[in-house]
Amino acid sequence: MNDALAQIRDAALQAMDEAGDPAALKAVEQRYLGKKGELTQQLRSLGSLPAEQRPAFGKAVNELKSELATRLAERETEVKGAVLAAMLSGASFDPTEPGEEFVTGVMHPITRITYELVDLFHGLGFRWLDGPDVELEYYNFDALNTPPDHPSRESQDTFWLDDGNLLRTHTSPVQVRAMERFGAPIQCVVPGRCFRNEAVDASHEHTFYQMEGLMVDREISVAHLIYTMKTCLREILHRDIEVRLRPGFFPFVEPGFELDVNCPFCAGNGCKTCKQSGWIEMLPCGMVHPHVLRSGGLDPDEWTGFAFGLGLQRLVMVRYGISDIRDFTGGDLRFLEQFQTV
Ligand code: FA5
Repeated sequence: MNDALAQIRDAALQAMDEAGDPAALKAVEQRYLGKKGELTQQLRSLGSLPAEQRPAFGKAVNELKSELATRLAERETEVKGAVLAAMLSGASFDPTEPGEEFVTGVMHPITRITYELVDLFHGLGFRWLDGPDVELEYYNFDALNTPPDHPSRESQDTFWLDDGNLLRTHTSPVQVRAMERFGAPIQCVVPGRCFRNEAVDASHEHTFYQMEGLMVDREISVAHLIYTMKTCLREILHRDIEVRLRPGFFPFVEPGFELDVNCPFCAGNGCKTCKQSGWIEMLPCGMVHPHVLRSGGLDPDEWTGFAFGLGLQRLVMVRYGISDIRDFTGGDLRFLEQFQTV
């Protein structure tokens, strides 16, 4: 090692020993080992040396570089340890003080109820299926026994797309898709977004969530439907419930029903929410129409089934006593934060 290198070595080691904090150590590193540091400059001077001296000089510079890097790493560990020790022993550090608050997001109540429902139905043997938001007219209407001139099409104001497809108005199209794909017997639930071109108010959104349920097997009856819906609603609403069926019209079920639950707000005695009736309309349902079974490739003489279409916002509103559906998408954090501890 020549004199110049020996001087650099001594100075660098001394500077490392004197550096008392990570920033000072970093400065020493840059000064001696950095891209523009002293050792790099030494290497640049290699070209000006006689050829026979170059290999030995290059080797000496590289050895010094590695020695300094090793010592630097040792000093980094020592300095960090010293800083921590000083902090822990200092009077200003109180280890019992609570840390900084860690703010996490919360699961949206619709997502939460979707997971709860899917979990519940999974326990009853139903599989979770998905379907497209952009749907063919065939699956949304025709396959569900709703031909073009059928008046019930008008009750579901549709967002039509330029290519003749549409944004699905309900999750029911997945009924036929599921039968086509999996045949029978089948038990499935299909949570998902639906879209309707209708005026938004306290109980109607243009984009909302439904969960379709479908069970097709041999000799399925209305009793299976009632049992399944009662089990589901009891679990989700966290209380023992009464249900009643009223006739309801949907072209894809026969017979069709509106299923009501006894009002949670007045225990069935009559209040403002249930319009003094003691009942709250919960979900439409019914026995799968033979035409729909045929659309799905099944023989209605062999197979029967039930289907239902649960409005998820409606369910969450009844569970938590929420009066305006627009709160779900209003973006007011105070609304969402309420579900933190639920
Ligand atoms: C249907 O959509 C049928 N497909 C349901 C069905 C399935 C019947 C299977 C029979 C068998 P309906 O249009 O009533 O039905 O909608 C079902 C539920 O979706 C309603 O009870 C309501 O909770 C919810 N819903 C409907 N329209 C809206 C809307 N604009 N905003 C929020 N929720 C809505």
